[in-house]
Amino acid sequence: MTLRLATAGESHGPALVAILTGLPAGLVLDRDAIDADLKRRQEGYGRSPRQQIEQDRVEVLAGLRHGRTLGTPLALVVRNVDHKNWTWGMSPWPPEGEPAGKGTKPVTLPRPGHADLAGVLKYGHADVRDALERASARHTAVHVAAGAVAKALLGTIEVEVEGSVVDEDALRVRIDEARSQRDTVGGVVEVRARGVPPGLGTYADKADRLDGRLAAAVMGIQAVKGVEIGDGFALATRFGSEAHDEIRTDRHRDTNHAGGLEAGTSNGEEIVVRAAMKPLPTLMKPLASVDLQTGEPAQALVERSDVAAVEALAVVAEAAVAWELARAAHEKFGGDAVGDFVGAWRAYVERIGWR
Ligand SMILES: Cc1cc2nc3c(=O)[nH]c(=O)nc-3n(C[C@H](O)[C@H](O)[C@H](O)COP(=O)(O)O)c2cc1C
Repeated sequence: MTLRLATAGESHGPALVAILTGLPAGLVLDRDAIDADLKRRQEGYGRSPRQQIEQDRVEVLAGLRHGRTLGTPLALVVRNVDHKNWTWGMSPWPPEGEPAGKGTKPVTLPRPGHADLAGVLKYGHADVRDALERASARHTAVHVAAGAVAKALLGTIEVEVEGSVVDEDALRVRIDEARSQRDTVGGVVEVRARGVPPGLGTYADKADRLDGRLAAAVMGIQAVKGVEIGDGFALATRFGSEAHDEIRTDRHRDTNHAGGLEAGTSNGEEIVVRAAMKPLPTLMKPLASVDLQTGEPAQALVERSDVAAVEALAVVAEAAVAWELARAAHEKFGGDAVGDFVGAWRAYVERIGWR
C-alpha cells in the first residue's frame, strides 16, 4: 500500500490536521520526538515573535494505540494556539456577535511574491485573507509531524535524514543586515539521508524516478525557488571525467557528485538535496501593489512576519525528504506490519550484499 498524506488547516484557524494512510502496523512513535521536530521548526535566527505564541504540540486522534500504529489511518492535529485572537475573523461558521479580535477587516493589498494576487484571481475571493491563510507556511507544522513519523519508519531500516542550513554564519550576518534595514532574506538548505539502500525509485517510469519525486517534494515547500541534487547546477560546467563518481570493487564511491541518485534510483551513497529559498515576501517596507477594492496604486500589506525562515526550512525540507524516502522504501519493501517491512529490507540487502 502506498503511503499517503493529506493535510488541512488555515494559519489562524482552529487547528492543522494531517491524515497519513498506508503506514504499517506496529511502528513505535515517540511523542517527544515529534514535538522536538515541531519545536525545531519554530526556532531559528530571524523568526518573528509568533513562534513564541504557538509552542506546537502534536495530538493524535486515530491510528495509534499505546504508542504503536494500528495500520489504520493516523490522524494528527496541531492546534493553532493563536486562534483565540481570531475566533471571529477565522470562524468556520458565520460569526456571531460584533466583530472582535484579528482578521475582521478584509485584506485588499496583495503582496508581491506571496499567494495573494494569484489566489484571489483563481478562487474568486474578495478578501486576500481567504487565500493567504492556507498559502502561508504555517501548515508546514503538520508536514513536519508527518516527517517525524516517516523518520520513525526509516529508522527501522537504519536510514537517517537530517536537514541543515548551508553557510549558517554568513546567513546570520545577512539576517542582521536585513533586520536593520527592515528587509527580509532567503538562503540555502541541505538535506542528507544516510543509509538509504540502492534501488529506491526507478528509471522505468518518469513519474517514479526518485530524483524527480524528491525535487517535487522540496520544490513544493513555500518559498523554495530552486532544488538541486548532489552537485546539481555545478555539474553543468564540468567535464564528464570530473563529474561522475568512480565505482570501487566494494561498489561504493570515493566521491558523491551524484548526490546518491543515478537514473532516478538511489545508488547506496548518501542522498543530498539542496534547496534555495527566496527572501520572505511580507515586507515591513512594502513594495508597490494595487488596492483590489479601488483599483488604485497602493503599497502591499504589512503584517507581522519573519526576517528569515531558513533554519525552519531546513526542518521542513528534512520532513519532505523523509516522507518521500519512506514512501519509496515502503513501495519497495511493503508490509502491513513493520516486521514484514524490516524483514523484506533485510532479505534485500543480504541478496545484493550491501553493507
Ligand atoms: C518555514 C517557512 C516560514 C515562512 N514564513 C514566512 C513569513 O513569516 N512571512 C512571509 O511573507 N513568508 C513566509 N514564508 C514564505 C511564504 O509562505 C511563501 O513565499 C508564499 O506562500 C508564496 O509561495 P512561494 O514562495 O512558494 O511562491 C515562509 C516559508 C517557509 C517555508
